[in-house]
Amino acid sequence: MEDRSGSLVFESTTTTRFTWDYEAKADKLRALYEKGKAAQWNALTDIDWSAELRYGAPLPETAASAAQLRSPDCPVPPELWNDYRWEYHCWMTSQFLHGEQGALLATSRLVQIVPNIDDKLYAASQVADEARHVEAFSMYLQRLGRSYPINPALRSLLFQVVADNRWDIVYLGMQVIVEGLALAVFRFGQASAFDPVIQQITELVARDEARHVAFGVLALQGSYDELTSAERAERTDFLKEASLLMSRRFQLEEIWERMDLDVAAGIRYARSDPTMVDFRRALFAKIVSIIQKLGLLTPDVRTHLEELSLLRPSAGVRR
Ligand SMILES: [Fe+2]
Ligand SMILES: [Fe+2]
Repeated sequence: MEDRSGSLVFESTTTTRFTWDYEAKADKLRALYEKGKAAQWNALTDIDWSAELRYGAPLPETAASAAQLRSPDCPVPPELWNDYRWEYHCWMTSQFLHGEQGALLATSRLVQIVPNIDDKLYAASQVADEARHVEAFSMYLQRLGRSYPINPALRSLLFQVVADNRWDIVYLGMQVIVEGLALAVFRFGQASAFDPVIQQITELVARDEARHVAFGVLALQGSYDELTSAERAERTDFLKEASLLMSRRFQLEEIWERMDLDVAAGIRYARSDPTMVDFRRALFAKIVSIIQKLGLLTPDVRTHLEELSLLRPSAGVRR
């Protein structure tokens, strides 16, 4: 529920674990922790905020953008195409910001709920990274002069992740799905092509996110080898739900609404436009390879990803 200030509030119980075993046991994770400590940056001083930006200014045409506009199902009339691209940029960076806050909260809970000291220390260092990411994206959106509220599908996933006391589900939801997706978007440079400021932010954030995804993979390695079938089903059900929510996130409903375009036609277009389908498949490629390595790309999960058009035709081997 929302409180008077508009903050979203929900009650949850947190399992807090102390450990008295302070010995470093996970060498690779400790090495990642050292790397993270050495790679700290400052959102205020390490980004050159001086470049001019005018919302709505003509954007340079790209091959992908031209192909999208030519699509017969495109609900955006040519005279609004430049506006649409700005809205998309604003929507995308707004979702980055909300996702970063989710990462901040989820990872701060991880510090409490994970059982061993190596994970606690790394998670704590990630909390500091996420604070910086929230700071950088919120400064960027202030510069843009507008923003979007959190996408409902992203909110639903963040709620589930932040409220869960099973540490592996937090890792799966946050470090693998949400951060894996964010890392892929940053690497694609979709958000960064025309503005040096967002380019710099996403480059710096992507470096951190690559460590965070690696943290999730290291933490989860081997933890699914001896699951009962009921426990495995809980994890694969979660992955199916999370993938569904993340594919819904890219229907761009809020943009169609804000631009006063036909929402149903917009959703249809976002779901079926070949450029967007390829984009989502490319975004999911890393996630698919991680869940396969973890032994969670069951036939059931695979079929679900295929139905959502999130799997590249050649991706993954049937288990
Ligand atoms: Fe982040
Ligand atoms: Fe992160």
